[in-house]
Amino acid sequence: HFARRTLAVAIGGLAATTLSLQVQAATEVTLGHTLSDSSHYSVGADAFKETLERLSDGEFTVNEHPSGSLGGERAMIEGLQIGTVDVVITSTGPLGNFVPETYVLDLPFLFEDYDQARCVLDGEIGEELLTKMSDHDLVGLAWSENGFRHMTNSMREINTPEDAEGLKVRTMENRVHQEAFRQMGASPTPMAFPELFTALQQGTVDGQENPITVIVATNFWEVQDHLSLTGHVYSPAAILASPILLDGLSDEEREWFNQAAQASAEATREEVSRLEEEGVALLREKGMTVKTDIDPAPFQEAVEPAYEIYTDEYGSEMLDRIRASD
Ligand code: PAF
Repeated sequence: HFARRTLAVAIGGLAATTLSLQVQAATEVTLGHTLSDSSHYSVGADAFKETLERLSDGEFTVNEHPSGSLGGERAMIEGLQIGTVDVVITSTGPLGNFVPETYVLDLPFLFEDYDQARCVLDGEIGEELLTKMSDHDLVGLAWSENGFRHMTNSMREINTPEDAEGLKVRTMENRVHQEAFRQMGASPTPMAFPELFTALQQGTVDGQENPITVIVATNFWEVQDHLSLTGHVYSPAAILASPILLDGLSDEEREWFNQAAQASAEATREEVSRLEEEGVALLREKGMTVKTDIDPAPFQEAVEPAYEIYTDEYGSEMLDRIRASD
């Protein structure tokens, strides 16, 4: 009897220990993005990690997977929907394929400057778009930033849309961007970002377009000679989470994720602003020719049909509201 009771107590104790270990084990959050660990996205990922781990007192730990190690942005968004990735920092590039309401943000020359873009995204419109994500098996946590996009290529300086004519330009997998480049007379080639460096190196495409931050973080000067500061479109970044993880959390836990995403967006925007100034000087030092003071008017005129194509399909309500915000 005594031996049996001792055994039962021992097994009970073991079960309790296992249970308490299970309770204490931190939930690992897999966070993916496509840029290097020296990029503005990584600065944002660090802030996300620091904030979530601090607020949750270690209940969650964050593992950052930079450099597209979990795939391109489209693949990672799919990963959120099926629960193989927990949090993703992504441009809106492929997002419209999942949440068409975000296409409005990809229209060229929509935002005049960083202040206007940040203000719209932090306001009612940004909030509405984040809420829309839940209709498409995604959780929108916050709007972060990629930056105003500029063109680089290996052929010639670009001053006017005519200079872009015939150039094979890699675009994101985004219909609105593709249409804009088609209207400029370029030949748009949509491609996932992890394939881009090799495509530029091998001459599969002549050029690409991205913010200064990305051009710096990806060493594009090694494969591109010319940079033109066209600033043709503002590129937001969204911090998205998987509903498979978030739906199972308490309100308090979800709030930690929201706050972590806010901290991440703030840190990223600060880094974008810093690099916007320092990055151009660095790219010149690395040997790129940098064309500044480009007149946006001919580019705006060239891409006008992209607006018509957009409004024909998606209407102009959101567009008008954004335009009224400046
Ligand atoms: O060009 C892109 O695909 C995006 O701007 C990037 C570099 C992946 C950042 O979101």
